[in-house]
Amino acid sequence: MAKSATRTFGILTSGGDCPGLNAAIRGVAKAAYGMYDMNIIGISDGFRGLITGEAHIMKPTDFSGILTLGGTILGTSREKPFKNIGQMADSKEGRTKPEAIEENYRKLGLDCLVVLGGNGTHKTANLLRQEGLNVIGLPKTIDNDIYGTDMSFGFHSAMQIAAEAIDRLHSTADSHNRLMIIEVMGHRAGWLALYAGIAGGGDIILIPEIPYSIDSIVRHLMKRERGGKQFSIVVVAEGALSTGEAKLIREERKKRQKKNRSPSKGYELQEEIEGAYGMETRVTVLGHQQRGGAPSPYDRVLATRFGTAAADLLFCGDYGKMVALEGNDITAKPLEDIAGKLKLVPPNHYLIQTARSVGTCFGDE
Ligand code: F6P
Repeated sequence: MAKSATRTFGILTSGGDCPGLNAAIRGVAKAAYGMYDMNIIGISDGFRGLITGEAHIMKPTDFSGILTLGGTILGTSREKPFKNIGQMADSKEGRTKPEAIEENYRKLGLDCLVVLGGNGTHKTANLLRQEGLNVIGLPKTIDNDIYGTDMSFGFHSAMQIAAEAIDRLHSTADSHNRLMIIEVMGHRAGWLALYAGIAGGGDIILIPEIPYSIDSIVRHLMKRERGGKQFSIVVVAEGALSTGEAKLIREERKKRQKKNRSPSKGYELQEEIEGAYGMETRVTVLGHQQRGGAPSPYDRVLATRFGTAAADLLFCGDYGKMVALEGNDITAKPLEDIAGKLKLVPPNHYLIQTARSVGTCFGDE
């Protein structure tokens, strides 16, 4: 492969960490150095580092031995530079955050900025593109809710962690004849609950896209009891909604949740199901376990594919895109087509049907 005139790009990770970030960083870097002889500037802590100018030239050795490492060697933050845009990045010079980013982008001599992140990150990436910066995105999130890609890295690892946790709950559920509720991440999208729930054999799966009723859940528990099953497992996404909640506008719902005595959805369900059915119930909130540790082999492969594809786009000067998976193929989608959109579980998705076919209840029948 012919070498390009030396290009320099900045790389940052933004939003919640997840397994596979380092594998993706390594993929971009190894291809960018090895095939294209580029310079790489590492930017610390997401967009915050680009606002403050916290960045450093990276060497090939920085990317060695990180394929299986969890977290991100660059650090991350949930900094959204276009939110509260009036806010000054530097009170002396009176710059806004996007202005500070643009200035640092030029100062660092970047030809392009490579961002690894989720929905919020790609929204910011598109706004920076509109400001005239060259940006390339890589989709990461355990929620798998990034529009335009069939899969984001991090999801597969989180699913494996959640499915293993469900497996472990089965023995206690069975031994004690209990209802075990496991709450997994996913505020808006239920992909993780759906996949992990099917993989772990959850009897009831509750996701934000399919509002549930306690009556339906209780009916299912009674049916299981009649069939000789004295225990059940409920897999619930943290953002699952009852039919009543689903009718409320988002602000109203948030207000209600603040007043709620239960610390999270899992505990709320425990109170309601115990009240309505009287079955002894325990709750496990899996939380950030789902984002920790080494990426699964699938995520290592996907992240490496995304990383090397991003390096190809850098070499070709094909900016303003997010690399994506379509079927088995790696493609690139214009940021303007994907920014600000969410990929939710369609209620008629084939996996919903698959789960229903093996007797799983979604709390809606
Ligand atoms: O966006 C990924 C995610 O893991 C969500 O599933 C979860 O609701 C959220 O991040 C938690 O974020 P934080 O680590 O900031 O509490």
